Amino acid sequence: MTDKNFMVDNSTRTDLFSPIKLGEIELANRIVMAPLTRGRMNEEGVPNDLNITYYIQRASAGLIISEATNISAQGRGYAKTPGIWTEDQIAGWKKITDAVHSASGKIVMQLWHVGRCSHVDLQPNGEAPVAPSAIKADGNSYTNNGIVEVSMPRALKIDEIPNIVEQYRHAAECAKRAGFDGVEIHSANNYLLEQFLRDSTNHRTDQYGGSIANRARLILEVVEAVTNVWGDGRVGIRLSPITTEVGNTPLDSNVMETYGYLIQQLNKFKLAYLHFVEGITGKSRSVPEGVDLNALRSLFDGAYIGNNNYDLEIAISRRAEGKVDAVAFGRPFISNPDLVDRLRYGIELAHASIETHYGNGEKGYIDWPKANSFHIESSCSKS
Ligand SMILES: Cc1cc2nc3c(=O)[nH]c(=O)nc-3n(C[C@H](O)[C@H](O)[C@H](O)COP(=O)(O)O)c2cc1C
Repeated sequence: MTDKNFMVDNSTRTDLFSPIKLGEIELANRIVMAPLTRGRMNEEGVPNDLNITYYIQRASAGLIISEATNISAQGRGYAKTPGIWTEDQIAGWKKITDAVHSASGKIVMQLWHVGRCSHVDLQPNGEAPVAPSAIKADGNSYTNNGIVEVSMPRALKIDEIPNIVEQYRHAAECAKRAGFDGVEIHSANNYLLEQFLRDSTNHRTDQYGGSIANRARLILEVVEAVTNVWGDGRVGIRLSPITTEVGNTPLDSNVMETYGYLIQQLNKFKLAYLHFVEGITGKSRSVPEGVDLNALRSLFDGAYIGNNNYDLEIAISRRAEGKVDAVAFGRPFISNPDLVDRLRYGIELAHASIETHYGNGEKGYIDWPKANSFHIESSCSKS
């Protein structure tokens, strides 16, 4: 830690710390907390007091996107993750949204169905996870027995697909009752919706496979169902056109055409925002030849949130170039509950080791100090 890092007021050189409206959601600043699964829920997926503390500590983010939240028992791919389909889950989340709102924060819920990225132990009646096609992911899941290889999925029958849309609609309604400011449809990181979109994971020959329009169909049906619940400007969507996470998933054979088509279709709905993971999630910002993420982003009519391996300098410069409306930070929010102030005033950031990411109760979860106490401690230790 060096003293020169302290108290540089970055507000004078960027508007990242100024308010913005994403659709109908008013944010106090353009720093967004990215969705972060933390594995601190119970078996029933019901939020508890620890989770309330965690979210309220981070309420100075312009917007909190909740950790990915299972829309149904079938949608679940990891133990200790939250849900949003039962009354108890709604009541648990309501305490979190109330707490965040009482601290003048805003919070949307990320709606999640993992598709093939699950294990039979997590599925109702020990059944196989569902996917567009019976293609196994090359990755791990987490059950109460620890880290395990994902199970072989089965292809959804065409007459089961309306029920998938219904799961999203029901979850969207539950999220509304839980007091969220909106929802984010998780169509990233190669979970169910992106599995349908990519030709690497979708080998169907019915109206949900083959052409780009067919592969995008489920996402668009879900967006329609969820926007019918929430209305204009309260639904965002997260996409990750070039990530291979999770499940070591190959990219689509034509990223620009496939995602370009989808994004243009999304313009029919008045979404709050489009949110991209720009690169390989948590790993790299490099872009393969032939892909232009800025060009894809510019097909979208509404607000845009950029994410992935940002630091303050990248955020300031991409904002200054008009490439992003807001920036989502993931890992920095784990260890810096007051990330907005730290970025604004040039205060050094704390770094969380990977061991703190999932599980472990309050340790590495709610025990990261805010800058004030951090400063006091550090000045005391110097004297
Ligand atoms: C512990 C952890 C949990 C994550 N959970 C989610 C999640 O629930 N939903 C999601 O879309 N992305 C999730 N991600 C990805 C992050 O939202 C983000 O895209 C990634 O960390 C890159 O941003 P960063 O460089 O600012 O951390 C997770 C990442 C980490 C490290």
